[in-house]
Amino acid sequence: MRLEGKVAVITGGASGIGRATVMKFVQEGAKVVIADLALAQAEAVVAEVEAAGFAGAAAAAQTDVSVYADVEAAVARAVDEFGKLDVIFNNAGIAGGKALLDHDPEVDYQPMIRVDQDGVYHGILAAGRQFRAQGTPGVIISTSSIYGEQAAELSFSYSAAKAAVISFTRSAAYELAAYGIRAVAITPGRVGTPIINQFSDELKATFAAEQLRNKMTEPHEIADVVAFLASDEANVINGTVVHVDDGYSVFKQRLDLPVF
Ligand SMILES: NC(=O)c1ccc[n+]([C@@H]2O[C@H](COP(=O)([O-])OP(=O)(O)OC[C@H]3O[C@@H](n4cnc5c(N)ncnc54)[C@H](O)[C@@H]3O)[C@@H](O)[C@H]2O)c1
Repeated sequence: MRLEGKVAVITGGASGIGRATVMKFVQEGAKVVIADLALAQAEAVVAEVEAAGFAGAAAAAQTDVSVYADVEAAVARAVDEFGKLDVIFNNAGIAGGKALLDHDPEVDYQPMIRVDQDGVYHGILAAGRQFRAQGTPGVIISTSSIYGEQAAELSFSYSAAKAAVISFTRSAAYELAAYGIRAVAITPGRVGTPIINQFSDELKATFAAEQLRNKMTEPHEIADVVAFLASDEANVINGTVVHVDDGYSVFKQRLDLPVF
């Protein structure tokens, strides 16, 4: 088990990629605090963990990642409940989009930045301080997006926040290496979670066609990579972006090109 004895905080662990990562982490031997705004859903994931035979391996902490004190409390909960912190997965996020010139900054910019950008900053800061206090190595994994590296429709605020996650990761890796701390960002493409499942079948088929296997990524496929990145087997992956996008970022469109 590659995460035996490790303790993790997973933000946004009540749904989608975060939920799948909670399940993968406990299967790999970790203890996990599920830090999510949706307490009832987080508790339901704790129940799933218990039902899967991992009693006592997960705890739910109601957390708003846009509030630093909440994230600090989630880290403290990991220490109280499980004795220490080894990994934080800064994954909580919201989506939503509108054309730039239709923006109300208070509605279409600030909330996205507070959750998707500030939330990751808070996780890096709170976990980094805990790792330093413990005097142990630590791993910080943060969820960016393919949109963190490109312009996309209706995504002005989301792309900005996700680009900041990549910059935070580089700077954190550089600045915190002295404490034995690693930082890595992941960029999912089109993953079948509530954020995407709200769209029509037609749009979902288009999303699938944007990836090389011509299908949507399953949340557990992202979780597998996160578990590897959190493990000691990934010690040389530091400060970089790991593309978990099934090739989304390597091609533009499928062409039925004649031989010429
Ligand atoms: N699904 C995709 O295709 C996709 C693609 C690229 C990136 N991402 C990113 O992956 C991450 C997870 O998304 P998902 O698709 O699993 O979505 P999801 O909606 O299934 O899960 C998001 C979770 O974050 C929680 N959350 C929202 N706001 C919060 C807050 N302020 N504090 C704490 N928790 C909060 C929600 O309650 C939910 O449990 C997000 O950062 C998202 O931007 C998703």
